[in-house]
Amino acid sequence: MASMAILGFGVVGSGVAEVITENLEIIKKRINGELNIKYILDLRDFPDSPFGNLVTHDFNTILNDPEITIVAEMMGGSHPAYDFSLAALKAGKSVVTSNKEVVSKFGVELLRVARENNVRYLFEASVGGGIPIIRPLTSDLAANDINSISGILNGTTNYILTQMAECNADFEAALKDAQAKGYAEANPSADVDGIDAARKIVILASLAYGKLINPDSIYTEGISKISLFDIEAAKEFGYSLKLIGHCEKDGEKILALVCPRLVPSNNPLHTVSDVFNGILVDANMLGQSMFYGRGAGKLPTASAVVGDIIDIAKSSVNDPCYPAIENAVADDVADFASYKCRNMLVFDAKADDKILDAFNATQAIVKDGKVAFITEVLSEKELSDKLALLKDSPLSRIRLI
Ligand code: HSE
Repeated sequence: MASMAILGFGVVGSGVAEVITENLEIIKKRINGELNIKYILDLRDFPDSPFGNLVTHDFNTILNDPEITIVAEMMGGSHPAYDFSLAALKAGKSVVTSNKEVVSKFGVELLRVARENNVRYLFEASVGGGIPIIRPLTSDLAANDINSISGILNGTTNYILTQMAECNADFEAALKDAQAKGYAEANPSADVDGIDAARKIVILASLAYGKLINPDSIYTEGISKISLFDIEAAKEFGYSLKLIGHCEKDGEKILALVCPRLVPSNNPLHTVSDVFNGILVDANMLGQSMFYGRGAGKLPTASAVVGDIIDIAKSSVNDPCYPAIENAVADDVADFASYKCRNMLVFDAKADDKILDAFNATQAIVKDGKVAFITEVLSEKELSDKLALLKDSPLSRIRLI
């Protein structure tokens, strides 16, 4: 029998208890044994919950109980989530989590400590919520060299951008709507500023390339400056506008970034809307594969967490599951100034009409006193050098995928 504890009885933690209870008979067959939730750690009491009698306020009760072999860290934030995970692994307990903040900051150390203690640290739910992506990337695609990964990794921003595109809501109105529906937090910064997506793309890059880049160090641009004009212009050019986390191999180096991008209609990410996530993996043997589904929410996220729990409970072998990763050093990271793409630039229509020539514009529209056009392929440096020579500044600049 496997006995486990849930740390944090919020949305996802309570979802884990619900999934295990609802599907217990199926789960028991799959692990060929029993699975018992013995403790729930939370600062609060839950007298009305069927799990209320499992609540403890003291992490040491869990840590010192030799029956507990699996800990589901569902607390969120760095501390004490990291500290409790580390202590549990050192005590010989496997840990599963959906906490992308902890994985993206401390994943290397926690995976190493898990290996040293013959236990596992699994985090399928940390990227893409319920979508299987981490296990496919590390197991099913293990024969491939991963050329690149591009993903809509944040459900809240995808909902906001979809509202803007389909309901003509501006950013502030769409954000308020997302908050009213419970998608966006009262402080929406981690989502709308791209911080959450940055954490997720560095996790995927670390598993694809073996190096964990500090998420604070990658180019990260959110969606708060996106205007209805940008979305309309993108639509007229045949693109949708999405917040994209992207990583790729650049020789021996890795490049990762998060920013709003125009996605053409022949790209499978083009139609990923609302709170859904989509992750497009380009692998050298398989080619492209797309992972799509619910990237957030109580039961979808809990479904991925419980998948990890089942994996641990049924395994008689101490298989670390993921490849070893190291913290990236400066030399591992490609120079962002060399990154090349096309861009949509928007200028005031009164701007110098030679601007279009300066960027070898292929398509242009003039509307609402603004001109929008698509540039030739330029590196970040080439684009900023060209912009520096102009007397006008763009109202917006959005990369194409
Ligand atoms: N805030 C995240 C999102 C939750 O909107 O995608 C799931 O990681």
